[in-house]
Amino acid sequence: MLDGKRILLIVAGGVAAYKSLILVRRLRERGVSVRSVLTAGGAEFVTPLSLAALTEDKVYRDLFSLTDESEMGHIRLSREADLVVVAPATADLMAKMAAGLADDLASTALLATDKPVLIAPAMNVEMWGHAATQANIALLERRGVLRVGPGAGDLACGETGSGRMAEPEEIVVAIENALAGRASGALGVSASGALAGKRAVVTSGPTWEPIDPVRYIANRSSGKQGHAVAAALARHGAEVTLVTGPTHEPDPANVGMCRIETAREMLDACMAALPADIAVCAAAVADWRVREAAGEKLKKENGGLPALELAENPDILHRLANLENRRPPLVVGFAAETGNVVAYAREKRRRKGCDWILANDVSPGTGTFGGERNTIHLIDEEDRVEHWPTAGKAEVAERLALRIAGRFAAA
Ligand code: CTP
Repeated sequence: MLDGKRILLIVAGGVAAYKSLILVRRLRERGVSVRSVLTAGGAEFVTPLSLAALTEDKVYRDLFSLTDESEMGHIRLSREADLVVVAPATADLMAKMAAGLADDLASTALLATDKPVLIAPAMNVEMWGHAATQANIALLERRGVLRVGPGAGDLACGETGSGRMAEPEEIVVAIENALAGRASGALGVSASGALAGKRAVVTSGPTWEPIDPVRYIANRSSGKQGHAVAAALARHGAEVTLVTGPTHEPDPANVGMCRIETAREMLDACMAALPADIAVCAAAVADWRVREAAGEKLKKENGGLPALELAENPDILHRLANLENRRPPLVVGFAAETGNVVAYAREKRRRKGCDWILANDVSPGTGTFGGERNTIHLIDEEDRVEHWPTAGKAEVAERLALRIAGRFAAA
């Protein structure tokens, strides 16, 4: 849905400017044409050359450049876009926007545009909390300026707190919402904090089912999608417990970690994490375990092959979705399918008793299992299907977090 859209990206001076380069890549991958304005401060952090290379376009920098003005006047620059995005939006640039100053190309374009404006603030925690900044933000929002973030966490200045620019994936989703006109109020665009006060339990990764002390049954799950979901829910303010099998993924920020190996341990950890408002089961739980794992390493020397008797593992999603008293109000599962994706996923949603199922095609060649990208078909509680565009797993997670926030806001 972003294909063919035009964005004017204003990059102001902040350490977060490097994330804007990643944002450009994400947007270009989605068929968006990006024209950029780099402020003098911005150019201290990213080079015009990298921005030009990634946007595959000229970078506009100077209000009084004769060449620029003859090629493309600043008024046209500000209007030949579907949306103006300011990332990072510094305290200084926001103050200029609030005051209506126009003393450089960025502020002039922002004053001259007739298009919606989305800002992604980034600054030190004290600057963000300052009454002047908060008053400017409130004024800009009353005027219809859209905002994404900032989030909380470790800031580049070494302090911790609010002020960290939204992640590129969050900004992409905010851009989509802004262009679809879903940008009203705090939700959908400025969703940081929308899940504050909500508790979530997320499962991720594979499980390892022991055969003997050295061998186990496992699968190829990387944990990338589950970890990204936990991170996205936490960014939106939820208190998240991530119950994960063994993975190489780093721990997501501000998430309570619970590391397990087997399906039964995963079930116990999920139960211990209740009550919760949201459960998202993204783990690739092994369906079977060896009924009696050997206490000693199985040896070849006795001749013949060991007979492994299997037993069925508990279905964690099914258990959570069918709890009598402590069922989380929203239970979400994934469906890994290799054919008939939507039909099987619909059936799976009914069988498991969960509210939503995110179906994905994991056939070899799609690169989903263990890969970076995912194509999701969401089946909701009314059995309706939403086809999501193929996207990175962080973006899928962000979209899910926003969808969850929207569901709680509507409830
Ligand atoms: N799931 C679970 N516990 C299990 C098996 C699966 O919680 N023992 C969850 C997964 O985390 C996922 C959903 O159930 O959210 C569907 O998993 P999937 O592997 O697609 O389905 P299965 O139940 O294993 O069914 P099948 O193998 O027949 O497709």
